Amino acid sequence: MISDAFWVNQDGRLTVGGCDTLALAREYGTPLYVMDESQIRVNCRNFLNAAYNGYDGESLPIFAGKSFLCKEMCRVIASEGFGLDVVSGGELYTAAAADFPREKIFFHGNNKSDAELTLALEENIGRIVVDNLPELRRLSSLAMSKNKTADILFRLKPGVDAHTHDFISTGQIDSKFGFAIETGEAFEAARTAAELPYINLCGIHCHIGSQIFEPEPYATATKVMLEFMLRVKKELGISFSDLNMGGGFGIKYKKSDTPPPFAAFLEAISETTRDFCDTHTLSLPRLLIEPGRSIAAPAGLTLYTVGSVKEIPGKRTYVIIDGGMADNPRYALYGAPYTVMAAQKANHPATQTVTLAGKCCESGDLIQEHTLLQAVAPGDLIAVLATGAYNYSMSSNYNRLPRPPVVMVENGKSRVIVRGETFEDIIRNDI
Ligand SMILES: Cc1ncc(COP(=O)(O)O)c(C=O)c1O
Repeated sequence: MISDAFWVNQDGRLTVGGCDTLALAREYGTPLYVMDESQIRVNCRNFLNAAYNGYDGESLPIFAGKSFLCKEMCRVIASEGFGLDVVSGGELYTAAAADFPREKIFFHGNNKSDAELTLALEENIGRIVVDNLPELRRLSSLAMSKNKTADILFRLKPGVDAHTHDFISTGQIDSKFGFAIETGEAFEAARTAAELPYINLCGIHCHIGSQIFEPEPYATATKVMLEFMLRVKKELGISFSDLNMGGGFGIKYKKSDTPPPFAAFLEAISETTRDFCDTHTLSLPRLLIEPGRSIAAPAGLTLYTVGSVKEIPGKRTYVIIDGGMADNPRYALYGAPYTVMAAQKANHPATQTVTLAGKCCESGDLIQEHTLLQAVAPGDLIAVLATGAYNYSMSSNYNRLPRPPVVMVENGKSRVIVRGETFEDIIRNDI
C-alpha cells in the first residue's frame, strides 16, 4: 500500500486504523473523510526525530494547518510538540479555540487584513510572517496602537526551482508570495523593518513549493537564505534567531512515486546550515520546517459509493460517485494523482481503466482519469487514498452539497471529529 495506514483484511476489505471501511461507511454514510490518528502521530514523530538528529541548534517542526485543520487536529499536533502554521483569521481562531500554545503559532499569508493582524497581536502568537512592505507598515502601526512589539519573520523568495507543478511552486521570483532576495527587495525591507517601531525582525522564512521529491533544492535554498542572513548581520547588524525553510516534502500518492525519507530533506537543510554557520562563524539559528501534506495526506482516505457506471464505447468508462470536486478539488485544479480502489474488493485485481467522476455540475468534476480499478457496480464502495491533506481543507459547498463528516480512527475505534453538514447548515447564513 502507498501508506502504512491502509491494510487489506482477510475478507479482502480495505481497513484504516484497524477499522473496516465498509463498517465505517455503514455507520457514517458516504462521502466520508477518514483520518488515522496513529499515522498522523507516526508522521509527526518521523519529523521530530529527523529534525533534532545531528543538529546542535534548536529546532521546531510546525504543522501547516492549511493542509488539514480542525480543533481535534490542533490537539493532536500540540500533543506531539509541534508548532502550527496558520494562514488566516479562521485558522488562527480554530487554533485558539483548541487552546493551541500561542507561542508556537506562526501566522502566514500574503494579504493579512488589519483584523487578522490585530487578532494575531491580541493572541500574542509566536511569529507573524510578513509578506510585503505595506503589510509591514500596517503591522507596525497596529502594534504601536496596542503597545506590543510584533515578533516577525520575513517571507523571502530564494529564487530556487523546486521541480514541481507550477501551481504549487512558490520559491521563484515570479511568485505572489514574499520579498525577492535577488533584486535587493528583501534587503531593503530588512532595513525598513529595523527602522520601524514595534517591529522585531527575528528571522526569515521561505517555502519553495509542494510535493517535492528532491532534497537538493532545499540545500540550495538554505544556502541562499543563510547568505542573506549573513549580509543582514554584516551590513545592518541584525542577527536572526529563526530560519524557517517551509514545507513541501513529497509523499506517495501512487505506487510509482518514490519520495526520499523525510530525514533526507531535513539533513539537506540542517547540514547546509551547520556547514555555513561553521564557515562564517554565525550562531546556529533555530531551524523551523513546516510539513503539511507529509503529516496529514498519508493518514487519510475518502470513501464514496458508486451511483452508476457509464461505459462510452471507444471512449472511456465513467464510475460516478456520490462526492466529487466539492470534497476534493485537487484533480480539477492541477491534475493531482491518486490511488483509487474498490474498498470491498481490495484483493481483486484492478483490471478496468476508468475515470472516477463526481456528482457536481461540471464536466471537469473528476477525481481521477485513466486509473486502474477493480470491476465495480452501483452500490460498491470506493476508497481514494492519501486524501488527508488539501481535501477537507479545500472543500466547498459547490452545488450546495453539504461537506462530509471527518471521522478519526485509531486501534479499531472511530469517532467523529468534524460533523457532516446538513441542509440546515447550507441555508444557515441565507437571509
Ligand atoms: C508557507 C507554507 N508553509 C508550508 C506549507 C506546507 O506545504 P506541504 O503541505 O507541501 O508540506 C505551505 C503549502 O502551501 C506553505 O505555503
